[in-house]
Amino acid sequence: MSRPTIAVARAVFPEVVARLQNHFDVRANQQDRLLTPDELIAMLQGCSGVLCTGSERIDATLLAACPELKICANMAVGYNNFDLDAMTAARVLGTNTPDVLTETTADFGFALLMATARRITESEHFLREGKWTRWSYDMFAGQEVHGSTLGIIGMGRIGQGIARRGALGFGMRVIYHNRTRLDTAIEDQCQARFVGKDELLQSADHVVLVVPYSAASHHTIGAAELARMKPTAILVNIARGGIVDDAALAQALRDGRVAAAGLDVFEGEPQVHPDLLALPNVVLTPHIASATVATRKAMADLAADNLIRFLIEGRPLTALNPQIVRAS
Ligand code: 8YV
Repeated sequence: MSRPTIAVARAVFPEVVARLQNHFDVRANQQDRLLTPDELIAMLQGCSGVLCTGSERIDATLLAACPELKICANMAVGYNNFDLDAMTAARVLGTNTPDVLTETTADFGFALLMATARRITESEHFLREGKWTRWSYDMFAGQEVHGSTLGIIGMGRIGQGIARRGALGFGMRVIYHNRTRLDTAIEDQCQARFVGKDELLQSADHVVLVVPYSAASHHTIGAAELARMKPTAILVNIARGGIVDDAALAQALRDGRVAAAGLDVFEGEPQVHPDLLALPNVVLTPHIASATVATRKAMADLAADNLIRFLIEGRPLTALNPQIVRAS
């Protein structure tokens, strides 16, 4: 019997590609060339599955052109690059990589909060540029993190990880807003209190965004929301570009309506709004919240296991549209 063919759309750990080669004929893009939509279609034609990342858009056009496709295994927990309705209609399974990146990503959210509140990159640039000639009492004086009020928008697994770090490690009062309120047992564990979005924006000293991207969460933070925040507040976005209106944020930062922002994700990334690049009171990182060697390996392994488990055994590990599995 011939083996299924699969594609690995971006470069991943060679040992993960080798593991997939034990089961499949593999078309791999180990040069990591960014594929255009047409090139992605050409790569996936005749493939039963693909290991992809957030950079590859899986939509109705691609699905119609690749009728043999059965599974798209995202190496990411977020899956806004999938048109999941179109995938379900085309009977294509989608999988993601939850859990394996939760703690690492929560660590990074906290790191970005700390770096921004304590002006770490700004002061490092100052030092490297040879501008440090004397100490002064207000040099790079930032905002307090310990003991302050932390507002978390999006209280899924990663949001809960950030809440635990804030409450248990830094003695912060944690408030959160989410589509649905969490069970009281989880609220107690995270020492977090549910509040409305406006109350959160008004009373938080620092706001961290961990909400998944969808049409409904587009511009969760725009000019009106920024106007509600404290002028000393810090905004951290480790969720997705598009959750924040980047132009409105740059304006608010420029006008001193919010103190600073720590951003790992951007509208239109890898492009970054030029007004953000020009500001000193932002810490900018290139979408690396899950980037530790161990976590990226665990994500690649889980995506590969989803391909193997579904195409060989019919039992994926982390299905996003499990009705496909039941029907097949
Ligand atoms: C990924 C992420 O590395 O998991 C997610 O949703 O944003 C990151 O961890 C990135 O999306 C590449 O797939």
